[in-house]
Amino acid sequence: MKALVLAGGSGTRLRPLTHTLPKQLVPVANKPILFYGLEAIRQAGITQTGIVVGATGPEIRRAVGDGARFGLRVTYLEQDAPRGLAHAVSTARDYLGDDDFLMFLGDTFVSDGVTGIVDSFAAGRPAAEILLAKVSDPRAFGVAELGPGGAVVRLEEKPARPRSDLALAGVYAFTPAIHDAIAGLRPSGRGELEITDAIARLVRDGHRVTGSMLTGWWRDTGEVEDLLKVNELILRELEPRTLGRVDAVSTVSGIVVVEEGAVVRDSRIAGPAIVGAGSVVEGSSVGPGASIGPDCAVSGSEIAHSILLSGASVTGARGLAWSIIGRQARVAAVPAAPTRRVVLGDHSRTEI
Ligand code: DAU
Repeated sequence: MKALVLAGGSGTRLRPLTHTLPKQLVPVANKPILFYGLEAIRQAGITQTGIVVGATGPEIRRAVGDGARFGLRVTYLEQDAPRGLAHAVSTARDYLGDDDFLMFLGDTFVSDGVTGIVDSFAAGRPAAEILLAKVSDPRAFGVAELGPGGAVVRLEEKPARPRSDLALAGVYAFTPAIHDAIAGLRPSGRGELEITDAIARLVRDGHRVTGSMLTGWWRDTGEVEDLLKVNELILRELEPRTLGRVDAVSTVSGIVVVEEGAVVRDSRIAGPAIVGAGSVVEGSSVGPGASIGPDCAVSGSEIAHSILLSGASVTGARGLAWSIIGRQARVAAVPAAPTRRVVLGDHSRTEI
């Protein structure tokens, strides 16, 4: 079985970060979200992995390389434009050949990995198996309806009036039967070739499609709020360790990682939190739910439930929460100043 990871798309909901960084490379707990997926694929015993890339292909290639550090053999597949998930599969047609494959959306996080769906697909070998998660508002997802025996009987992409609360979680196992189903597709209302429609076609044509219920938790990281939530949940599962320096007057509580070369002075770090390599935290309160990336500077500040990307600096900012601060971006409080100055990139947001 091969894996096909989708890492194209545009990431408009995560702008301005995605003006300069593919959404799949936004770090959570100081590691690109895509890397967790690649690790899960390897853990399920798959090595041959195709990664579909679009305009941000060069950055993805730089970050993942040949895949050797994940134990994978990675082949890059170029998609000319984000024309939909089924279109992404069709660009990988030659690479996939007649092999079964596991498709994984590169901006998705599944806490229990993909071994469960890979194993159950191999055991029952339906035409397709999809990972399903119960959600409170299914309208933002592909939605599946199950029949009495647990087989999928109907699918719809982002329905206005969902007929079930079972969302497609972005992990799919396919036999080559999916290629014929894709060949007959027409673009959906949003102008994309939808994989959900292709799977619905398999069902209509009498193929057996099964659902695998998600265990653990899952999140599509397409929005800032989701990203911060995933960040917090992953931080909670880290192995606490202090490789950097924490001085005697600082306090560290809960699950905290202080990476190599990081320095913490006169501060309070409340886990779950991570302080990245080469960062300096001084006279500050960090956490819970804070990921301070590498080479950041935090002084005289309070930061919780937030992500700082590499080289960001925060000075004198109290009560900073639920924020994402981009690479080399600077935030400084100037308490006595009668005016506020901001220099924000396109599509930035600030609350002052
Ligand atoms: O998160 C689960 C949902 O993912 C499913 O419930 C939906 O059925 C499925 O259509 C998908 O919906 P999204 O609207 O969230 O998909 P998105 O456009 O965010 O794309 C998912 C990933 O695939 C993302 O990493 C970008 C990549 N992609 C996307 C498109 C449209 C490509 O590589 N090529 C593409 O053409």
